[in-house]
Amino acid sequence: MKTILITGGAGFIGSHVIRRMVNLSPDTRILNLDQLTYAGNLENLKDIENLPNYQFIRGDITDTAFLEKLFGDEEIDGVIHLAAESHVDRSIADPMAFINTNIIGTVNLLNSCRRSWKDMNGKLFYHISTDEVYGSLGKDGLFTEETAYDPRSPYSASKASSDHLVRAYHHTYGLPVVLSNCSNNYGPNQFPEKLIPLAIHNILHMKPIPVYGKGENIRDWLYVEDHASAIELIFQKGVHGRTYNIGGLNEWTNIDLIRLLCQIMDERLERVPGTSEKLITFVKDRAGHDLRYAIDSTRIEKELNWKPSLTFERGLALTVDWYLKHKAWMENVTSGAYQSYYKTQYEER
Ligand code: NAD
Ligand code: DAU
Repeated sequence: MKTILITGGAGFIGSHVIRRMVNLSPDTRILNLDQLTYAGNLENLKDIENLPNYQFIRGDITDTAFLEKLFGDEEIDGVIHLAAESHVDRSIADPMAFINTNIIGTVNLLNSCRRSWKDMNGKLFYHISTDEVYGSLGKDGLFTEETAYDPRSPYSASKASSDHLVRAYHHTYGLPVVLSNCSNNYGPNQFPEKLIPLAIHNILHMKPIPVYGKGENIRDWLYVEDHASAIELIFQKGVHGRTYNIGGLNEWTNIDLIRLLCQIMDERLERVPGTSEKLITFVKDRAGHDLRYAIDSTRIEKELNWKPSLTFERGLALTVDWYLKHKAWMENVTSGAYQSYYKTQYEER
């Protein structure tokens, strides 16, 4: 039986990847290594926690002694590395956690693999990364796998750095690796610091929806299940040493996205049309705010026959329905530390 270590599996994307892999590959043992920071939540995996091929391990990837013991105790055949500090605004407020987890933590994992994989045959280190490493686009153009790196926030610089290190371990030590760089994910279980769940939460409570600057920044949105399907495919069939861009061909200005979300929320909550839009509040822009991200996913579409399965309208409606059905989940994660985070980020904006 193969054993795959998935890091960051209690987070947003990781929990969807784990659920998919545990169900699709009953003959594979899936170990979920997660520190359970503010972003990690075992509630996300309640429905699969008792499956025989799933095991949760609490641990910190910056802790080398912990990793040494784990790789000594377990015969790990592959790693899918999602653990990270993932929120741009937090990286602007306090970059060090991003340097520690995203860079040092990744190198620690690479070292553990390198040390324990005497025979590299059948082994694979899969690094999950972001389109933000490519910088910011103007009105035209798309990021391809050949686009030069130009990270512009502490978050994206830390992810770019880890991408380079993963490639360096491949070239220098022959470690089998594969990488993917994906655009903005949305869907169930996303922590409400990110735009879409934050707006859903505020609309529900009739609180202002903070839109940075003029709301003209553009993001390419992909439903999280589609990202999870791409990850599984790349892990099984991706060419070692290669990078795959993953995107939704689905660009929205933030303001248009929020207007669509307001419409869906009004319908679902049976409010008078236009009620939620009145909550839109333009606030001080994010420092160094990248204007536009957009992805050319030709490689993964052609080589691995992947494409997004949902329209944005459908995905957003599914997302809203999930949050409305899981109000207790939302209330849990927005009590306590979230309150002071929100105050610091938004009160004087
Ligand atoms: P998330 O913030 O929801 O989850 C991160 C998880 O990592 C949490 O469960 C947290 O507890 C865990 N973690 C953090 N530090 C850790 C440490 N030191 N040791 C062990 N576990 C730790 O993040 P996400 O949005 O699910 O993103 C997952 C990955 O995908 C990240 O690498 C991110 O850069 C990348 N990514 C995210 C998006 C997106 O839109 N969210 C898009 C492209 C790529
Ligand atoms: O592109 C992939 C990246 O997408 C991932 O690597 C990151 O982990 C993920 O956090 C996400 O980064 P963004 O900064 O694009 O996501 P966020 O949801 O924070 O913001 C989306 C857009 O909305 C961005 O232009 C900033 C804006 N925004 C965000 C928040 C939280 C607002 O206008 N108001 C807000 O309150």
